[in-house]
Amino acid sequence: MQRMLVTGGAGFIGSNFVLDTLRRFPDLAITVLDLLTYAGSQRNLDQVSDRITFVHGDICDADLVDGLVRDTDVLVHFAAESHVDNSLNDPSPFIRTNILGTFTLLEAVRRHDKRLHHISTDEVFGDLPLDSVEQFTEQTAYDPSSPYSASKASSDMLVRAWVRSYGVAATLSNCANNYGPYQHVEKLIPRQITNVLLGDRPKLYGAGDNVREWTHVDDHNEAVHRIIANGTIGETYLIGSGDERSNKQIIEQILTLMDHPADAYDHVPDRPGHDLRYSNDTTKLRTELGWHPTYDFTTGLTATITWYRENPTWWKPAKSQTEAKYKLLGR
Ligand code: NAD
Ligand code: DAU
Repeated sequence: MQRMLVTGGAGFIGSNFVLDTLRRFPDLAITVLDLLTYAGSQRNLDQVSDRITFVHGDICDADLVDGLVRDTDVLVHFAAESHVDNSLNDPSPFIRTNILGTFTLLEAVRRHDKRLHHISTDEVFGDLPLDSVEQFTEQTAYDPSSPYSASKASSDMLVRAWVRSYGVAATLSNCANNYGPYQHVEKLIPRQITNVLLGDRPKLYGAGDNVREWTHVDDHNEAVHRIIANGTIGETYLIGSGDERSNKQIIEQILTLMDHPADAYDHVPDRPGHDLRYSNDTTKLRTELGWHPTYDFTTGLTATITWYRENPTWWKPAKSQTEAKYKLLGR
């Protein structure tokens, strides 16, 4: 493998992936294809700007995608509309980018016979009861709840069909919630950290009992590297740290780590259709590919708080617009 095409490489997970990949493989020729939507920023790649080729473009642009896929060895597909609340407000870009975009990439991969790794989410499986120890596995039936998760489920189905019907050399991974540097301030953890930094109160949806499984972005990307190198073509791998916490616990922990009273937050109206709990059984990834998470959540969260504290010029430009959107939604 000498050339890699990364879609969505200016977003949260994609940019962390590009930075990490160049540390591992300094001679790899990486091309990033990114539309630079509200969620993407070329500044995330500043430290490697002279070592990558950046293409500002759309994964739905078939001509552009065809040339880029032809000239690569492996395609790692992160690009997506990624935020559930936005999908509830306006599903259309989710259908376009997540479904049509993935279709466009698959057709190019099929034409040029290239290796693809498709990045997806555990939200395709729907949710689990709060009071259970049940987990999602690679065999769990798809049952998405939101327009976001339905669009990601559709993209996964397309990849699976292209593997089976056309022999496309693809792997898939479905990860749980990520956290770390460069995550947009619309998401739970950065939203609350930046609220506290600005002297505003964190916002908890509903009672806050909903549970998420939190995985550091570097642990996610380590798994992606292992799947690209040694994963079985056509297979799906679940990724998750095993560290489950309720949203209430997360907000209380952020407040405590930032030296504020743990109850200094507001309850706001719940997200419609709000998934209760996610939890991934990662036995396959651990046993077949030897992956294990390396981050302790409290250590990772503390480092993430420090990152947002030290990088206000990165997040401040998006903050007021993001909060204005939330205000319209009453959240
Ligand atoms: P993000 O919203 O931070 O970044 C998405 C990137 O895709 C942005 O840079 C954006 O500009 C780009 N993009 C959007 N539409 C595009 C288009 N039409 N053409 C080209 N580029 C486009 O997302 P993220 O949180 O980094 O998520 C990356 C991937 O990981 C997504 O596929 C998401 O479904 C998946 N995922 C995310 C999480 C999480 O917790 N964030 C967990 C599991 C899986
Ligand atoms: O599970 C993987 C998914 O995790 C990814 O596929 C998505 O791209 C990613 O956005 C994330 O989805 P969630 O909806 O779980 O993440 P979000 O950060 O939006 O919210 C996490 C939880 O926190 C969720 O239960 C809603 C709640 N929440 C969120 C925000 C923004 C709050 O209580 N308050 C908030 O202000």
